[in-house]
Amino acid sequence: MTVISADPTRRDFLFIATGAVGAVGAAAALVPLIAQMNPDASTIAAGAPIEIDLGPIAEGQVIKVFWRGKPIFISHRTKKEIEAARSVQLASLPDPEADDKRVKKGHDQWLVLIGICTHLGCIPIAHQGNYDGYFCPCHGSQYDTSGRIRQGPAPKNLPLPPYKFLSDSKIRIGEEDASPAAHA
Ligand code: FES
Repeated sequence: MTVISADPTRRDFLFIATGAVGAVGAAAALVPLIAQMNPDASTIAAGAPIEIDLGPIAEGQVIKVFWRGKPIFISHRTKKEIEAARSVQLASLPDPEADDKRVKKGHDQWLVLIGICTHLGCIPIAHQGNYDGYFCPCHGSQYDTSGRIRQGPAPKNLPLPPYKFLSDSKIRIGEEDASPAAHA
C-alpha cells in the first residue's frame, strides 16, 4: 500500500525535476549568446563604441546590451509591430514623434533604445503593457512598439542612443552617422 501512495509522489518529483532541468538548459543556452553580444568590462568602462551582430536576433525578439553602463534595447520588430507604431495619430501622443524618425532609413525593423524610463529611471520590460511595447513596473508607464510614451507618468519617449549601421546585420552603438539626417 505504501508503494501505491509513494509512486505518484515520485513521478511528480521526476516531472518537476525534468521541467527544472529543461528551464536551466534553456537559460544556459541563452547565456553564450548574450555574453557574446556584450563587450568586455574594460570596453564598457572606457565608454567606447560597441558593435552588435544583429544576425542572431530573431524577428519579434528584444535583446538587452550595455553601453556606457546603460541598458540598450535592440528590438527586431515584426511587420505588425511596425504597423502598430505607424498607424498612430501623432497628435494623440504625449511626446509626438513619428516612428520613421526613430529608426534608420531602410532598417525599419530595427529599433534601438536606451532602456531607461523617462519618469524616474527604472528599466522597463519589453513586450509588456497595453501597447505590447515596453512597460515600466515602477509607476506604470507604458511605451509602444516605437518606444514612445503612451500612458503613465513618464513625460518623454525612450531615448535613442547614437548608433549607425556598419552593414545590414551589424550596428555600432556610440557613434552616429555623419549625416545630420541620421534618423530620417
Ligand atoms: S520610473 Fe518608470 S514609471 Fe516611474
